[in-house]
Amino acid sequence: MATIKQALKQANTLQQVSESWKLDAELLLSEAIEQSREYLFTWPDQELSSAQIEKFEGYCSRRATGEPVSYILGRQAFWDFELIVNPSVLIPRPETELLVETALELLDNFASAAVLDLGTGSGAIALALAANNKRWAVTAVDSSESALRVAADNAKLLQLSNIEFIQTSWCDGLPADQFDLIAANPPYVEAGDKHLREGSLPFEPIAALVAGENGLADIRAIAEQSRYCLKKNSWLLIEHGFQQKQAVEKILVDTGYANIECVKDLAGLDRLTKAQCLN
Ligand SMILES: C[S@@+](CC[C@H](N)C(=O)[O-])C[C@H]1O[C@@H](n2cnc3c(N)ncnc32)[C@H](O)[C@@H]1O
Repeated sequence: MATIKQALKQANTLQQVSESWKLDAELLLSEAIEQSREYLFTWPDQELSSAQIEKFEGYCSRRATGEPVSYILGRQAFWDFELIVNPSVLIPRPETELLVETALELLDNFASAAVLDLGTGSGAIALALAANNKRWAVTAVDSSESALRVAADNAKLLQLSNIEFIQTSWCDGLPADQFDLIAANPPYVEAGDKHLREGSLPFEPIAALVAGENGLADIRAIAEQSRYCLKKNSWLLIEHGFQQKQAVEKILVDTGYANIECVKDLAGLDRLTKAQCLN
């Protein structure tokens, strides 16, 4: 038999894989005993059943292989909700909330709007925008059928019906002059980048991470194809690597966008670029 306090202490082996091992252990134990984290601090001397210990040890063994906590729990917080996640979708990152914030600033005075999220994954961006205004019509695209299933489940969970899911490659088959804003967090990591072997990345779908042409191929495709789908004076927002600002700016200039501006994240890193389609 072990108490809550003892179980958390024994999880210190997770130090080898995670800087946030204490938090990880608390989240995994909360899940195993189906209680909140506060409960762990309130009842540290409570004895755990053998079934609870077995469950917790199972989660810790998975975490010890490097598997992200979000995949073990099957959920991840984003914006002001929680999303279902599994290994067919990228785990939504806090940095991507900047893309949502920037989109909301640009759509501030739009009573109705047509918005497109390219590469929706778990649906994070599309759902945050759809939830902001139920009169906006949001289209969420992904090439992955299994990712779209997760995104649709998330829409159901959040009871959002102003969102349509389409399986296609970027803008293939989408109508011309349709959208007031296109948001995209595409794959932008260069194949062979050493970061692909670090943290949660080895567990995430490679198609969500890696792009050809030094990580720029999908950004280029999106910039080119979005021109056709965007209305006059509408906006394209693309999240990218913090070292890709100049390359992305050149792509956007070459494809005919105006008012191109890079936006930094809270860490001061170049995180996304917005650009306007004037014609
Ligand atoms: C970096 S993930 C972004 C996921 C989600 N938007 C987010 O921010 O958490 C990129 C997504 O693009 C999708 N994707 C990759 N290539 C694509 C393509 N050619 N057409 C549509 N989606 C694509 C992947 O399946 C993945 O879900």
